[in-house]
Amino acid sequence: MKDIWTKLQENHSTAEGRPIISLFDDPQRFDRFSVEADGLLLDFSKTSIDGAALDLLLELAEVRDVAGQRDAMFRGERINRSEDRAVLHTALRAGDDEPLVVDGEDVRPGIRKTLQAMEDFAGGIRSGRIATAGGAAFTDVVNIGIGGSDLGPVMAVRALSPYHNGPRCHFVSNVDGAQISDTLHKLDPRSTLVIIASKTFTTIETMTNAETAISWLKNALGDEADSHLAAVSTALDKTAGMGISSERVFGFADWVGGRYSLWGPVGLPIMLAIGPAEFHNLLAGARAMDTHFVTASAQGNMPVLMGLVGIWHRNICRYPTRAILPYDQRLAKLPAYLQQLDMESNGKRVSNGGDLLARGSGPVVWGEAGTNGQHAFYQLLHQGTEMIPAEFLVSSRSHEPSLQEHHDLLKANCLAQSEALMLGRSREQALEISAALGYTGEEQRAQAAYRTFPGNRPSMTLAYPLLTPYSLGQIIALYEHRVFVEGAIWGINSFDQWGVELGKELASALVPMIKGASAEGKDPSTISLIRKLSA
Ligand code: F6P
Repeated sequence: MKDIWTKLQENHSTAEGRPIISLFDDPQRFDRFSVEADGLLLDFSKTSIDGAALDLLLELAEVRDVAGQRDAMFRGERINRSEDRAVLHTALRAGDDEPLVVDGEDVRPGIRKTLQAMEDFAGGIRSGRIATAGGAAFTDVVNIGIGGSDLGPVMAVRALSPYHNGPRCHFVSNVDGAQISDTLHKLDPRSTLVIIASKTFTTIETMTNAETAISWLKNALGDEADSHLAAVSTALDKTAGMGISSERVFGFADWVGGRYSLWGPVGLPIMLAIGPAEFHNLLAGARAMDTHFVTASAQGNMPVLMGLVGIWHRNICRYPTRAILPYDQRLAKLPAYLQQLDMESNGKRVSNGGDLLARGSGPVVWGEAGTNGQHAFYQLLHQGTEMIPAEFLVSSRSHEPSLQEHHDLLKANCLAQSEALMLGRSREQALEISAALGYTGEEQRAQAAYRTFPGNRPSMTLAYPLLTPYSLGQIIALYEHRVFVEGAIWGINSFDQWGVELGKELASALVPMIKGASAEGKDPSTISLIRKLSA
């Protein structure tokens, strides 16, 4: 009997070249190939998936037991097999009283206690009750962290700027001294709070930046620098070693992955910026998406369907990348955030059991806010030799009602792009345009070729009412679960990241060589580069 992958491949081969627009001969196409949940709409009707393919994809999700794997995650089973850990970022936003037992302990009381501590601290900083060494209110916060200890807060703080009513938040992640220098240069240590965020508290970039920031505080404040410090980590022994007092340390458990951590203490900068009440709305949005993911049937399940479209594009159409295109300037950091979420989770070449994968796993994820991307790389999306499925995000309303014209243009541009990708412009139309421009003969043919758009390029659109803390929570949780669905189908561990280790080890060994120690044993290219960089 043929397996589902073969059947999907056959469906694709028979339908190859069929214009996506022809699928709309079915008047129900939009309704059948879109899904709504709690104000969000995901339209995947502008893809090449037809009814038979969708049925096969849904069957694939069933055969791969996506629902069973999902339930195991929510139950707190140790699905992160290589690290022997549960995966429970969803518990941070569950707002649930039912006991959730991990390693023989109900983790709910601890989650509530930490959230309460964050609220007390954030509330205190925001009101001025927790004051600077000089007795004034903090005006600025610098979050020092990298990867999951940076990208979530950076993305969300920027996304929610209309809700800011707390201290200004700044972020330092890169070990490049340029970033911390440029950041601290514009700040006053006497009114700045420094948060050191690192799950492990060993990450060299963060530890190096933390030392620099602590020296900066100490130079200005002496022994009182401690009152300008806080930390977020799972390694409470290590935060104590850095001299950060325990009541300013916000801990979390190892079952929260770095790239899934903004819902707990790593989200402290978000809470400082928008306040505890709005932070709760962010959690509520994510919680609503969790409930939808757990309870909706596969046919109407947004993360499942989004994941299946991803599988179709990656494994059946064999597209190597996907573009994230938010028509929402405040989501400008979303592509970078999703790069870590998706590529660190699903950039894997072996299965959960350690066997080489038979087919492709996570695609390259990249993107940029629209309309800026239109004037940079969309040329390639429309007329390049690669097919790149596009994922548009756009809101009905904006936070700038007085600038309605801007938002109308933004929406029109977003819709124009998905339409242009699908429909393209035929050679006949292009010939007519060239003729109207006065070209004839060979020049008309060449001019028409430049102006022909092949079309038939797939896209999805995620529409939401307005970018609020609640809808941002929904969107992030949607993408988290989409990554989960794809990982479950590929049979990989989406929650480890061994691929980043080798570079870290080699960098530590290279530091003395950069400083002048012998580079003997290194390859000739690396030796020559060390020599050049030491000049
Ligand atoms: O890049 C590897 C990684 O381990 C990420 O998974 C993580 O988010 C980041 O480094 C930062 O780690 P930490 O929070 O432990 O400093």
